[in-house]
Amino acid sequence: MKKKRKHVLSLRDLSNQDTLDIINSGVDYARGKIELGEQLKGKVIGIYFTKTSTRTRTSFSSAALRLGAQIISYGPNDLQINTGENIHDTLQVLSQMLDGLVVRTSGPLTELRTLKNMESMSLINAMTDDEHPTQALADLTTIKLHFGELSGIRIIYFGEGNNTAIALALSLTKFRNVTVYFCTPPNYGLDKSVLCYAQKEGKKMNSHIQEVHRVKSLPLDVDIIYTTRWETTGTIKDDINWRKEFEPFSVTERLMAQYPKAIFMHDLPAHRGEEVEASVIDGEKSIVFEQAKNKVHSAKAVLQWCLG
Ligand code: CP
Repeated sequence: MKKKRKHVLSLRDLSNQDTLDIINSGVDYARGKIELGEQLKGKVIGIYFTKTSTRTRTSFSSAALRLGAQIISYGPNDLQINTGENIHDTLQVLSQMLDGLVVRTSGPLTELRTLKNMESMSLINAMTDDEHPTQALADLTTIKLHFGELSGIRIIYFGEGNNTAIALALSLTKFRNVTVYFCTPPNYGLDKSVLCYAQKEGKKMNSHIQEVHRVKSLPLDVDIIYTTRWETTGTIKDDINWRKEFEPFSVTERLMAQYPKAIFMHDLPAHRGEEVEASVIDGEKSIVFEQAKNKVHSAKAVLQWCLG
């Protein structure tokens, strides 16, 4: 009998146990507890990125190769989508030739859901404009490696309510007694429906998620300060004066000093002098390069969960 395909499209689709299984497997890969080479032997995986990427594209490509798969890599100008073929036909055709496809697009997640035959190919969302699920899975792997557990973690996220923030909201509320504050500029918060959904899900786990727009109104006893770049993968904002609104949310040394127990995380790429001061990201509390490195271990876990 043909094996059922699994997908990582949105964190909403993953059960709490699925999420934990992927994170635990990422932790095991990071600790060198799993031998590499055979997990995806004989599989062919497409890596299709219509937008720039350093970490996600390389981590999934490297992970697939290290687990024994072969990959076909497509850049933004390689497929006939570029000449007008629609995404539905593209996915339909690729699903007849590949075992899995890792995709980054500038469109919404609903585009990837146009694949009708979900049994033929695993789909992995490597970032759509509305969610970055594999970033959150990698980040939670890093947090578990660093703190030993996810339950009870307290985080303040500074900056835009972008696709990384959304993925963090959707993933963290799957764990018990978690506290997350999203401190965003007033006009750049999380999508309201996603925030409501995450708050409702969080309540079931006794976890608290809140959006605030004032840096001063936050608790000081937290484990992690997290930020992302202000222009996600080069996106442009309508308001030409947007930087003024973002400036109070920059993670400076002065801001970090208010949270003496907190480590610093950033999904990268970073713009020193904008969302974070150089002395913070390059300082002793920063774990951003450990965080980036764990993307490859988490990618192995995602690929194995989907296709192994
Ligand atoms: N954090 C992240 O997704 O990095 P890349 O855009 O380089 O893949």
